[in-house]
Amino acid sequence: MYPSDILSRMYAGEKNTKLYPKKEEAPSELDDILQTNLFNVMLNRRSQRKFEDREVEDWKLEMIFAAADTAPTAGGFQGFEVYHVKNPDVKLKLVQAANNQPYVSAPVVLVFCMNPSRVKMNFPQDATLAAAYAQLAAHALGLTSVWIGMIDEHKVMQALVTDLVPGCILCLGYAQKTLHPKPKRKLTELINEI
Ligand SMILES: Cc1cc2nc3c(=O)[nH]c(=O)nc-3n(C[C@H](O)[C@H](O)[C@H](O)COP(=O)(O)O)c2cc1C
Repeated sequence: MYPSDILSRMYAGEKNTKLYPKKEEAPSELDDILQTNLFNVMLNRRSQRKFEDREVEDWKLEMIFAAADTAPTAGGFQGFEVYHVKNPDVKLKLVQAANNQPYVSAPVVLVFCMNPSRVKMNFPQDATLAAAYAQLAAHALGLTSVWIGMIDEHKVMQALVTDLVPGCILCLGYAQKTLHPKPKRKLTELINEI
């Protein structure tokens, strides 16, 4: 399945037996999600570290993976892979690998790793960009997230039993309460015209 398959299934009519998510699972929010405005998502996203003890639906996860796989990558080689950590023992090891940040045991834990074997040169940006796309997609789907960059790479690799180097951990779930976006600097402080 390709990323585009996910979206085309969602847009498909009810007669399509491959309608995704399956008809009986199709949530009422689906129409809203399909109409999502990217700027709204960006302006309202807020990091969140307290998650409800509630599972994230598989179809939302698949959309998040699809979004990650649409990110631009160096040479188009898609030099990254994602570990979807479900095992509670491995989650615990990731908490320890992330300086004991407890929320790293979130309902959904994704580790974005570089995979240099897919690309001639090592571009860590591939994994970073993919994680950013996944983070925005998660918010568009009504979830919340926190990006974990403070990690001991070697401990993460040991926990995952991989030789792929991690770029970041993305923790996702339903927010315990809605937080307002953090204020950002004025755009005049951002831009240097030369
Ligand atoms: C590269 C990077 C590393 C980060 N590392 C951590 C981290 O280890 N732990 C954490 O709680 N938040 C981490 N964050 C989340 C930031 O604290 C958060 O994005 C920042 O406070 C701005 O808040 P906002 O995301 O709500 O705009 C990280 C974010 C980025 C982009």
